[in-house]
Amino acid sequence: MDPLYVAVAGSAVVVAERDGTHDPATGRALTGSWLWDASVVLASHLATSPSARLDIRGATVLELGAGTGLPGIAAVACLGAARCVLTDVRPLLPGLRANAEANGLTAEQADVRELRWGEQLEPEAQVDVVLMSDVFYDPEEMPAMAATLRGLWRGDGGDGGTVGWAATEARDIVQDCLVVLREEGFEVTEVDRVTRPLMRDPAQTAVFFVYRLQRRQLEQGVDFTL
Ligand SMILES: C[S@@+](CC[C@H](N)C(=O)[O-])C[C@H]1O[C@@H](n2cnc3c(N)ncnc32)[C@H](O)[C@@H]1O
Repeated sequence: MDPLYVAVAGSAVVVAERDGTHDPATGRALTGSWLWDASVVLASHLATSPSARLDIRGATVLELGAGTGLPGIAAVACLGAARCVLTDVRPLLPGLRANAEANGLTAEQADVRELRWGEQLEPEAQVDVVLMSDVFYDPEEMPAMAATLRGLWRGDGGDGGTVGWAATEARDIVQDCLVVLREEGFEVTEVDRVTRPLMRDPAQTAVFFVYRLQRRQLEQGVDFTL
């Protein structure tokens, strides 16, 4: 497949998709083999939002369910992040590594790791910003995702702690996912809503939401979600 070139903050990020990446257990193609429109929306929002630019400059950024890794790679290659940790299920890791290298990122700048939702990042890393693109599609997966997020999040919603940025195509199920994430201790604020043509079918448009996430501020130091 021909690589895709995505413009972010005046630079081109090159992303190769991998048609042949399958789940060895089920034999099904893995959804993270392809670049999803929401990741283009997220990279574009990170490039244009002053508060996202501020969060990302000099930061260690972790992308959850990174797939082909566009937002995490763009954060370092185009937006001044110090490094990214690109995470997903194991069969997608070689593609993530190749995409990071194709954009000139060294192994120090792009740490590619397996991270299944429900598990913890090992070894731990200090994470300033978490990026998530098109991962809010199954409410039953959200408690496991939230457990992973709580494990790597610093601070409780005050200044200086970890923040999250997420984008997703507007589907009914997204709101159900957000209800669970909020119950699990996260503040999720819609910060943008964009309508844009789909990459693979430009005659069609879709609506996308962008969110900023924080941990809910603790009351009297007690967090009942832990
Ligand atoms: C719809 S794809 C989005 C991929 C990429 N973020 C993008 O927007 O192009 C969902 C991603 O979440 C990952 N994912 C789904 N369930 C997961 C789990 N339980 N643990 C880790 N990653 C998971 C998939 O492997 C896939 O990369």
